Amino acid sequence: MSKFQLSEWVLLTSQKGKKWLVQVADAPFSSHLGGIHLGDVVGREEGDWLVTSKGAKLMLFRPALQDYIFNMKRRTQIIYPKDLSAMIFYSDIYPGCVVLETGIGSGALSLALLRAMCGRGKLISIEKRAEFAVDARENIRRFFGAAPENHEIIVADIEGVCLSCEVDRIFLDLPEPWRAVSNMSGMLRMGGLLVSLSPNVGQIQLTHRQLQANGFGDIVHFELLRRDWKVDQLRARPFDRMVAHTGFITVAKRVSAERGDPLESVPGDSEG
Ligand SMILES: C[S@@+](CC[C@H](N)C(=O)[O-])C[C@H]1O[C@@H](n2cnc3c(N)ncnc32)[C@H](O)[C@@H]1O
Repeated sequence: MSKFQLSEWVLLTSQKGKKWLVQVADAPFSSHLGGIHLGDVVGREEGDWLVTSKGAKLMLFRPALQDYIFNMKRRTQIIYPKDLSAMIFYSDIYPGCVVLETGIGSGALSLALLRAMCGRGKLISIEKRAEFAVDARENIRRFFGAAPENHEIIVADIEGVCLSCEVDRIFLDLPEPWRAVSNMSGMLRMGGLLVSLSPNVGQIQLTHRQLQANGFGDIVHFELLRRDWKVDQLRARPFDRMVAHTGFITVAKRVSAERGDPLESVPGDSEG
């Protein structure tokens, strides 16, 4: 593993799991645990640690994507890692696929998609608010070190967008996803997947109806709850608090209209 260098990101992690994402620089860093000089990170490796002026140990790691998205500039709600990871897996994203997402918001989903696409294929992100497109572009550039060549951001309302190419996957993170479905369905190839995230039941009901009316089948809706556990010498039990409801994930496939009505999915069908 390479050694830390000036200006790269380092995730300082206390022994109790408190984290700070900072850039390595010739500058001091301080917290309630005491101070260190960030220049001392240079030349160390991941997993090394520094001792603060108060004697606390700070472990040094390179940030994972989940560390970065909670620290980047965000003026919109972002998709939480528990949902992001499921959306990436259940959409069956692969290097080389062509993906359309809307809206880009702060770029959390775009980052996860671009990571999974490994620099291949293309991600087209549609966002109606120019200021959010600017934030997302900058968040993505900072994470990768340069703007990925396979990423295009278009500032527009999705309801008026018409692409000249067909895409393999569509992602919706919109307040009114059902309004985008009929326009977007024609841009998705047959068999392509659409994935939508919505916090409210009413949103998924309206989206479900629009998906059925626009040639989608195998439609499933689910939510994921993550409950962390506290484990030490004396205890093994769930933490008192958890991130419970964030949103419902909808996954649907585009099917051929000539082959009859799209199949309704039966609850539990998809997990065998
Ligand atoms: C919750 S944010 C998306 C967050 C993003 N998925 C992320 O992970 O950072 C919703 C975004 O959709 C955009 N939006 C809402 N309606 C839209 C529309 N009709 N066309 C394009 N973008 C839209 C909003 O401006 C906002 O930036």
